[in-house]
Amino acid sequence: MSVHKVADVKRVTTHTLQAMKRAGEKIAMLTAYDFSMARILDAGGADVLLVGDSASNVMAGHETTLPITLDQMIYHAASVVRGVQRALVIVDLPFGTYQGDSKMALKSSIRIMKESGAHAVKLEGGQEVEDSIRRILSAGIPVMGHLGLTPQSIYKFGTYTVRAKQEAEARRLLKDAKMLDELGCFGMVLEKIPAELAQKVSESVDVPTIGIGGGMHCDGQVLVTQDMLGITKDFHPRFLRRYAELFDVIREATQAYVSDVKAQAFPNDKEQY
Ligand code: KIV
Repeated sequence: MSVHKVADVKRVTTHTLQAMKRAGEKIAMLTAYDFSMARILDAGGADVLLVGDSASNVMAGHETTLPITLDQMIYHAASVVRGVQRALVIVDLPFGTYQGDSKMALKSSIRIMKESGAHAVKLEGGQEVEDSIRRILSAGIPVMGHLGLTPQSIYKFGTYTVRAKQEAEARRLLKDAKMLDELGCFGMVLEKIPAELAQKVSESVDVPTIGIGGGMHCDGQVLVTQDMLGITKDFHPRFLRRYAELFDVIREATQAYVSDVKAQAFPNDKEQY
């Protein structure tokens, strides 16, 4: 299989995303963790591919995003970068590689950029990670924020329910969003917060907001690709729309293959040398 790149494809950059917000064009982002899927999603026109730490769940089968390591994220990210011609590739800084230590945050980000060839990093949190964001940005590495439900803090929250429904938390989130904007983040994910709050945030910051359970007024949307394609079966949050039922498609194809092999119907005489 060739991994040849077409030279004249116009790449999406962080500046493209900001121009899209100004022009009122919505941004379509999906997660990707491997070369083959990245190629398909890029060919399908996704503007941004996020190498999310959700790889910990959907690729490795962990219950939370906490176990995935920086080395594992870099492996996924490098594979995705090789599959992409147009989309911007953003990589999640995994749990334990940026919180509470801005020097470590910069080191982790530099490793991601150098070893994977990705274009930007994303991290979770507001005020509590301000120093890390400042230091990463000071090295010229674009940073995307992530507010609302931040899965790396699941043991602090206790549940995956909608965040910032109460006035105090909503006020804090809006303040954090303005801070991310002022620090120079090029965008932010808003996960599982009331649509009205996501709209207020989107109108209050210059950079694009990307919603996952953030409603229709965000400047873009992101879904975990395996959820969007119906590869994961048992996850039905209100915000998820499935565009395919690939679990069933793949299972049926597998059953047909198994049945053909057992019946000695595959391979036939044209499928051998
Ligand atoms: O890890 C991830 O997939 C994410 C998205 C859900 C935004 O952070």
